[in-house]
Amino acid sequence: MKPSIVSYKKLPEDLQDKLEQRFSVTAFDSITNENRADFIKALAKAEGIIGANETIDRKLLEQAPVLRAVSTISAGFDNFDVDALTERKIPLMHTPGALTETVADTIMALVLTTGRRILNVAERVKAGEWKGSVGENWFGTDIHHKTMGIIGMGRIGTALAQRAHFGFGMKIVYNTRNRNPEAENRFDAIHMELDKLLSVADYVCLILPLNPQTRHLINAERFALMKPSAFFINAGRGPVVDEAALIEALQQGTIAGAGLDVFEKEPLPKDSPLLSMPNVVAIPHIGSATFEARYAMAASAVDNLIAAMTDSIEGNCVNPQVIR
Ligand code: DGY
Repeated sequence: MKPSIVSYKKLPEDLQDKLEQRFSVTAFDSITNENRADFIKALAKAEGIIGANETIDRKLLEQAPVLRAVSTISAGFDNFDVDALTERKIPLMHTPGALTETVADTIMALVLTTGRRILNVAERVKAGEWKGSVGENWFGTDIHHKTMGIIGMGRIGTALAQRAHFGFGMKIVYNTRNRNPEAENRFDAIHMELDKLLSVADYVCLILPLNPQTRHLINAERFALMKPSAFFINAGRGPVVDEAALIEALQQGTIAGAGLDVFEKEPLPKDSPLLSMPNVVAIPHIGSATFEARYAMAASAVDNLIAAMTDSIEGNCVNPQVIR
């Protein structure tokens, strides 16, 4: 008999077939209030699960007594209780390699759009305000040869630094716990303490995972260190930033603007002050949302699940200490 698994995000057909060749699959396109009870019922027999965008906490895991493999179609795993999985020796697989270049593209797009005020001026053109040669109140800020501060020089940070340094001649400063010799050699990147980085960068790009150490890492005191001409870009996780402090920094002119792909609460509430600020570009957590990257992530997650179910994990495991 094939092992039972549950998929809780719609997969491309060929990948769904690949799973069905090996497993008895209970598939949900997504989890909604209407089908949540069925999902929980299916967990009772599930030896593996694969999906995205659901909170998989200790309480939910109790509904899955025979679970032995979990595969998330994402790089981030802050929606999982990793300790609860590790206690039960269940590997949690993720897809960090599949979205690197795409997310770096998104961040660069946010840098360009905020600095050059692209949305703002495009809206004015559509509103019929373009009457002649534009004056200073349409001007933006240069990107080329400015200083980009990258907080989190992992895979995505490195791909971003490559674009910024070679494409735009930007000076790269970065902050990570451990120095990144590759970034220093390839991009002349300079490692800095976080507070120093915030005070020198023209574009501060935050690419950190969410965990207890990073929650609200960027707060009012840290925004106060930034230059009034600097832009803040977040494409990691919303709660790494104290959003109320960000809003205040934007309102007070402590910083020049922000490009945001992630928020403390997603979707962004309709009454968020961020939505009415002309110096904010807010996009709906689309860092990896291209056809190519989303397919690559799903393919990687399927392979990860198969590897975990067949005791042949070679990488992409969040808690490798559980591997037999
Ligand atoms: C990830 O993979 O973690 C991205 O944020 C998409 O959710």
